[in-house]
Amino acid sequence: MLSASLILLYLITGGLNYSVDSLQHPTFPYRLLLVPEGRGSDRAAELFWAVDFDTETVDFRLSVPLRHNHRLRKNGEWFAFGLSPDGTLVNADLAVFWFPYGKPKLTEAYTDDKGAVYKDGNTRDYILLDWRIVPGGGGDDESPTNLEVEFRRKFDTCDRRDYRIESGTVDLFYLRGNHSTLSSGYIDPSKAEIANQRAQLLRSTRRAPPLPSTVKTADITMHNTEAPNQVTTYWCRVQKFPDAVENHHIIQYESVITPGNEDIVHHMEVFHCILPEGVEVPDYNGECEDEDQPPELEPCKRVIGAWAMGAPAFSYPEEAGVPIGGSGISSYVMLQVHYNNPSIREGVVDSSGIRFRYTSSLRPHDAGILEVGATYSPNLSVPPTSDGFYLTGYCTPDCTDKGIPDQGIRVFASQLHTHLSGTAVWTKHIRNGVEIQELNRDDHYSSMFQEIRLLQQDVVVLPGDTLITTCRYDTSSRPNVTLGGFGIQDEMCVNYMHYYPTMGLEVCKSTVAKTALKTFFKFVDGRAGDKPYDVTLTSPSAVAGRFRDVTWTPSVKLLWQYVINQAPIDIECLQSSGRPFHGTWKDQLPPGVKFPLPRRRRKCPTRRLHPFLKKLP
Ligand SMILES: *[C@@H]1O[C@H](CO)[C@@H](O)[C@H](O)[C@H]1NC(C)=O
Ligand SMILES: *[C@@H]1O[C@H](CO)[C@@H](O)[C@H](O)[C@H]1NC(C)=O
Ligand SMILES: *[C@@H]1O[C@H](CO)[C@@H](O)[C@H](O)[C@H]1NC(C)=O
Repeated sequence: MLSASLILLYLITGGLNYSVDSLQHPTFPYRLLLVPEGRGSDRAAELFWAVDFDTETVDFRLSVPLRHNHRLRKNGEWFAFGLSPDGTLVNADLAVFWFPYGKPKLTEAYTDDKGAVYKDGNTRDYILLDWRIVPGGGGDDESPTNLEVEFRRKFDTCDRRDYRIESGTVDLFYLRGNHSTLSSGYIDPSKAEIANQRAQLLRSTRRAPPLPSTVKTADITMHNTEAPNQVTTYWCRVQKFPDAVENHHIIQYESVITPGNEDIVHHMEVFHCILPEGVEVPDYNGECEDEDQPPELEPCKRVIGAWAMGAPAFSYPEEAGVPIGGSGISSYVMLQVHYNNPSIREGVVDSSGIRFRYTSSLRPHDAGILEVGATYSPNLSVPPTSDGFYLTGYCTPDCTDKGIPDQGIRVFASQLHTHLSGTAVWTKHIRNGVEIQELNRDDHYSSMFQEIRLLQQDVVVLPGDTLITTCRYDTSSRPNVTLGGFGIQDEMCVNYMHYYPTMGLEVCKSTVAKTALKTFFKFVDGRAGDKPYDVTLTSPSAVAGRFRDVTWTPSVKLLWQYVINQAPIDIECLQSSGRPFHGTWKDQLPPGVKFPLPRRRRKCPTRRLHPFLKKLP
């Protein structure tokens, strides 16, 4: 229903060009809390959203706390919703709400590459759909009251300056201020309330299958963990999955967050310990990567749940579940929680974790994980001070031919993974030289925001298919080379593809061939051509040492990028036992793409020159 005040608002704001029919209240399936940095949750805004893939629009509802009932003009208050390439106020796209007539008015704005704010001419990229005051319970002037605004944004507004909402991670923010917040065209961060948040706005619309009546719940949580008074903490706790004497399938999981800690629990992962049944894992409850962490935790690395702020429940497809319990399967799992506490709130006691729903009514298939991308090894390293360097790993036709059964596998979800310097990840899928469909892409990837994401549709991968995974890194602030490897300062480039039915192939990755690596170091040493020259590279640490010694001039960086893109590869084609499949895996040519996918056409009106301009010479 369009309220009378809203009609009035449209008249005042000049009337917007769309029909009243489009103003139904959609339901908003997704919700995110936006807590301004350094503020309490009483200053938090709530963002809800709904996606329409047919019209390629997102409807948002932003609910903002008001201190003084609804006297909105007071103090020249305003608030804004924004999108930007990296969550900062630079090159951002803003919908600013202000109150010239005691009612919200939406004005579009943007910031340039220095953060200066400009009003965005005559565009109508955001549409204010509705607004309302939601009074608090108390009835007095000071009781919490919220202002809700609902607005619509196209994925792609076709405006050069606007942010394009894509299927991966979106950096969004909420800003609030008053007259004093803007000084000479810039937002003064010390005078504004600013909340940044990452979210996958365009989530898969696949419906979750109904839960069977036999469903049980297992909460894998922390137990009154006292998070240290520091900004970043990774806490790990080992525990046993309950009720694990029988075979079960995990069919869904979601977060359970200790009330009051919503702004601090940043992301969580549950790892299944891949061990023979009956092998004990010591109790561990402490900081992850701690020196005291027992080495027996090393096998706890198969991700069975990955949640990041804003993610709703994850449901496995109706045909499959993750096997847990029963004979031959360890019941140990390890929960890892990343606490992010920028305002160093003290005395945080937390029992958050992941709630699994599982059942003994087994589904037809076990779900498995196929790891594609680049081998973890210093042989693939990222040069220092590069703002766009790419590593690529291949899952080759020879390997998929050996490992994937004739009927293929159905990939239904994917978790992209790099460490701290990764900024984009994608996997291309090629059959007989023809690129068919991307198996996930995130152009705004952040290692701080890792979810297992459902694909919009299952993708069937057949024997003989090629999967090419590429990651982009930004090492512009790192003076030294970033080695490939397991440490958080090292890098990885992986796509964990969740699929069914399970098969023998578990790892399908590659790295630059040893021969090519030698040639590269030979060139770097200035010994190309002339005398016989032996580069001894006997171990990963020898390779690491070599990389540390390289003087990374721009041309050496370019050469190394060229080697990674073009040189022969050594392939890892491993069974679940960790043993390679039988085959020739060294010095192979990287598989090519004869027919790449055409670039996705943007649905933008072609720009027409004004007839008058056409006449000009
Ligand atoms: C504007 O915001 C600043 C910072 O939050 C605050 O200190 C100031 O009192 C506000 N000004 C008015 C007129 O409310
Ligand atoms: C870079 O390497 C140098 C020499 O090995 C070392 O002294 C320095 O601490 C390193 N810098 C960083 C940021 O790791
Ligand atoms: C990396 O290179 C070294 C030396 O060439 C080699 O021994 C090692 O096997 C390579 N590692 C991988 C994972 O290919």
